[in-house]
Amino acid sequence: MSILPESVSGTPLQSLDEVEDFYEQRYPEPMTEEQKKPSVGTDPNKQVDEFRNYEADARPTVREFYRLNHAYQTYDFALAKRKEYLGLNRRQMSIWEAAEYLNQLVDDSDPDTDLSQLEHLLQTAEHLRADGRPRWMILTGFVHDLGKILCLWGEPQWAVVGDTFPTGCSYSQKIVFPRFFDANPDSHDARFQSKNGIYEEGCGLDAVNLSWGHDEYIYNVCKDYLPIEGLYMLRYHSFYPWHREAQYSHLLNDQDRKHLKDVQEFNPYDLYTKSHAKPDAKALRPYYEDLISEFFPAKVRW
Ligand SMILES: [Fe+2]
Ligand SMILES: [Fe+2]
Repeated sequence: MSILPESVSGTPLQSLDEVEDFYEQRYPEPMTEEQKKPSVGTDPNKQVDEFRNYEADARPTVREFYRLNHAYQTYDFALAKRKEYLGLNRRQMSIWEAAEYLNQLVDDSDPDTDLSQLEHLLQTAEHLRADGRPRWMILTGFVHDLGKILCLWGEPQWAVVGDTFPTGCSYSQKIVFPRFFDANPDSHDARFQSKNGIYEEGCGLDAVNLSWGHDEYIYNVCKDYLPIEGLYMLRYHSFYPWHREAQYSHLLNDQDRKHLKDVQEFNPYDLYTKSHAKPDAKALRPYYEDLISEFFPAKVRW
């Protein structure tokens, strides 16, 4: 087992939050009921134009983030990271401990207005709670970004956050900054550049090697403990090309089609809660410790 840094306080992670904020810039309005339907019925040309505007408005740090992400997230890279992390042999800690551990990630951009990692998790969960959502969903909100602890284990930001996308098949032009894929070696590998690539039509997302990040990791940590709806929310919350752009329908199976609405229902709680008041972690801890113990064992494998 590798030696893990216990503290990375002071590590500049400015662009981590900027990448997250960029989602809200791209998708400023919660989805309408019409948009939630599997085939997005809006004018595709209009969508592309709007997309380009978001790209033009993106901060240089966000642009640089996606340049690296699209260049280095190859099929082989995503496969290798699954192998490296999904044995869950790094350490054992409780869910609350993991949240505190994650909270060491320091954001340099604006300490007065930006939320800590723990505050973002609590805010997402508290919003779900205020809306009377089921307990498993509140807990899903609380754990959804715990996979970002990958940053504490030396993973670069482009391998932790940002939109995820299928590797091993052609890239949708609706993925943000699609031109950056020119620098990805998979773009020049014929096996990976047909519509289905290495996959069978309708194989299901479980069989698809998505680009590596915090979604896939936290899904694997939680997969024995949360209901399937929550697991879809965890595993695909950054798969914007699917849940916001309606791409890759040829890879879906019936189960994916059924649970798309769960991922879409979760998304506004992740994206549009940041203007709400900062939650009081100390006061909320007993409620969340109780909720965690209802679903998870005292120690979870990471
Ligand atoms: Fe996330
Ligand atoms: Fe989040």
